[in-house]
Amino acid sequence: MNYNKKTVRDVDVSGKKVLLRCDFNVPQDKETGEITSDKRIVAALPTIRYLLDNNAAVIACSHLGKPKNGPDPKLSLAPVAKRLGELLGREVLFAADVVGEDAQAKAAALKPGQILLLENTRFEKGETKNDPELAKAMASMAELYVSDAFGAVHRAHASTAGVAAYLPAVSGFLIQKELEFLGGAIADPKRPLVAILGGSKVSSKIGVINNLLEIADTIIIGGGMAYTFAAAQGGKVGGSLLEADWMDYSREMIEKAKAKGVKLLLPVDTVCADAFAPDAKSQVVKAGEIPDGWQGLDIGPETVKLYCDAVADAGTVIWNGPMGVFEFPAFAKGTEAVAEALSRTSAITIIGGGDSAAAVEQLGYADKMTHISTGGGASLEFLEGKELPGVACLLDK
Ligand code: 3PG
Repeated sequence: MNYNKKTVRDVDVSGKKVLLRCDFNVPQDKETGEITSDKRIVAALPTIRYLLDNNAAVIACSHLGKPKNGPDPKLSLAPVAKRLGELLGREVLFAADVVGEDAQAKAAALKPGQILLLENTRFEKGETKNDPELAKAMASMAELYVSDAFGAVHRAHASTAGVAAYLPAVSGFLIQKELEFLGGAIADPKRPLVAILGGSKVSSKIGVINNLLEIADTIIIGGGMAYTFAAAQGGKVGGSLLEADWMDYSREMIEKAKAKGVKLLLPVDTVCADAFAPDAKSQVVKAGEIPDGWQGLDIGPETVKLYCDAVADAGTVIWNGPMGVFEFPAFAKGTEAVAEALSRTSAITIIGGGDSAAAVEQLGYADKMTHISTGGGASLEFLEGKELPGVACLLDK
């Protein structure tokens, strides 16, 4: 896939109506609907400010949640419009629909330097079906399409990809940055390239392991999925998370790594607990020797040393997935040690979105990383080497 895409700087935006796809899929309090993190809104500000400062009229749009049957007041983007206005320090107009009368009228009246946010794109049934009629209707309100919704580029939806068939399409600064770091790490990494893969399930990382075995010099496995690898090699994993259906696959990956000359590091010891609880009794045992009635919740101290040594002289490190149950402080040591090691290395450090980004932020190492991706599913599909519809649809440089 070509990651060298035209950006807002490569086109004339002055006086133009710009349809800007953002990822305003923000977390909200279930009871009050209050936005609990505005990180995704903040991440869109540089592109929005650039467009407004350069005399464009911005028609912003996004999805929020997964509405099933059309408009759902709980998933309205109205609170996002309010927060965006506060952050920008200027009025953000809001349309009560996506391509209906209100949106069409407000978009038509929009002046350069003004910003309008459309209602949740998924209130239109055609959005997730990538309906060309919906894409055409959205495109008809603007003269240029800018996508800055990295978190949604793995979706082939009307507002993330379909509209690009009807308008010149370029990226905003957020997508540009994600492509520079994630794309750079995949296409032309500073070596050695070390990939640290954790998280609970092997099944959710199959594509990533497979693809990174083609690219990386070292792959480090931690988190719950390490127990499937341990069991696949005949180890005892007690009551740890185990995906028995993926043991053959794990063996295949071990063989593939050998054949490709990729160093595949698996835990050598484990912190196991007598229950899945923050105050469970714990002990350190050798990997593959977890007694019955115990379950692995973190990598052990020998493994921490092995993994930290492996990243010390890396050129690039990509990290996706925690090493243990970091939400419980007693079992966060492995994840914290890896985050700490990454903060000390001179390597380019790239953190996949989702849980790994949350772990790095929660543990206080966020500002020490080169790049923390804003996309969970999107960054995973990126690392799988898949073509991302929301990137492929943008104009090449
Ligand atoms: C995300 O939160 O990962 C993106 O906004 C994509 O959301 P989706 O999984 O509902 O498509």
